[in-house]
Order: sequence, then structure tokens, then C-alpha cells
Amino acid sequence: MVLKMSKGLFITFEGGEGSGKSTQIKLLKEYFEKKGKNVVLTREPGGSEGAEEIRHILLKGGTDRWDKKTEILLFLAARRDHLTKKVWPALEKGDVVLSDRFHDSTVAYQCFGYGYDAKIETDILALYQFISDGFKPDLTIVLDIAPEKGIQRSKARLGNDEQRFEQMDLSFHQNIRQAFLTLARNEPERFIVINADQSIEQIHQELIIKLEERLNANSARAN
Ligand code: TMP
Repeated sequence: MVLKMSKGLFITFEGGEGSGKSTQIKLLKEYFEKKGKNVVLTREPGGSEGAEEIRHILLKGGTDRWDKKTEILLFLAARRDHLTKKVWPALEKGDVVLSDRFHDSTVAYQCFGYGYDAKIETDILALYQFISDGFKPDLTIVLDIAPEKGIQRSKARLGNDEQRFEQMDLSFHQNIRQAFLTLARNEPERFIVINADQSIEQIHQELIIKLEERLNANSARAN
């Protein structure tokens, strides 16, 4: 488990397009609120005023709007703003912060999406270190679904004009799915992987069981 410097709990949700993250995040918010916690829901790119402005230019337009490195720098600039303005202050107060995507999305999309690139991965990790000072989520939940199913769901969302990444071809999305599974295998103490090809309620129940196991194990270890 990651060294804990804050009083709160930071949980990130990751997965491909249309994996049902936002629905599950809302259900998890209700779960923590019933336990009397103050919960902050947030998302990336975005979550703070400056980062939402960056989101706007990142997610709209054609697939080749940004050169790959410019794109990475924009995601990381947005993340720094989000951390300093929203995530860290909330954790300092002891809140539970639930974020729809975080750093693992940058590794998956920008480093594996177009075909794995070891040099880009090293650079992304160094840039992440620069903006985060080594901070990491307490837990990361991957909602795993075949991209063929996820993209269908995601494209069906009415009024969603932020589809720059949905427009990528199937192999891009297959690479991303494998990337999240690889990241989870490499850091099993931080990740929980859930099959997202189930009903909303089944996913939520599985998530709560695994989350409670993990939080109980971590608090036992801390005592
Ligand atoms: P979403 O709100 O539907 O998850 O849209 C965010 C999009 O941005 C999604 O296609 C994934 C992509 N993305 C990256 O490519 N890199 C990142 O670091 C993050 C946070 C998101």
C-alpha cells in the first residue's frame, strides 16, 4: 500500500470507454455517505476550473488535433491543477475522493493505445513524479469490458461531443484494455479489477465486497 500522508481516502476508477464508471462512482458515493463520510466526486481530465478548461480542448476535435507529446503535457498540466486545487485539499480535510480516471489512464491511452512505447512510458512516469511528488491513489478500480461492447454504450450517450478518443479504431481500445489489466497485475495491492459485463447491481455488489476486503486488510496492516 502507498505511503499515506493524508487523512482522506483517494479511490480512482479506470476502464475503457462505456465501462460504466460514472454509474458505479455514484453508487459508491452513496455507500460511503451512508457510513457518514464526506465524499467528493471528481473526474479527469478536469475536476478543477483550470483542468476543466484543458479538458475542453483535449477531448473535442479530430483524432489528430494534438501531437502525442503535446497531448501528454496537457493531460499532466490538467492533473497538477486538479491535485493542487481539489484532490489534495479534500484529502487533507479527511474526505473520500472518488475520481473518474487518473494517472493510469495516461499510461494506458498515451503509452499503450498507439502501440506500447517504452520511452514514452519512462517519460510519462518522470512527468507524473514531477507533478505529483510521488502521490498515488489508495485504491484503483478497473471496470473491465470488451471494447466492442463499451464503445457501443459510449457512442449511444446523447449529447456527448467529447468523443475524440471514441473515434480511435478497435485495436487502440483493445490495447487500452490490455494496458489496464497489465497495470493491475503489476500492482495488485493497489488495483481491484471487476468484470463490467454484468448488471449495474452485480458490479456494485462485487465492488463493495472487494473494497471492504481490501480496506480491512489495509487497516489491519496499519495497526
Ligand atoms: P471520459 O470522461 O469518457 O472518461 O473521457 C475522457 C477521455 O480522455 C477518455 O477517452 C480517456 C481519455 N484520457 C486520456 O487519454 N488520458 C488521460 O490521462 C485521461 C485522464 C483521459
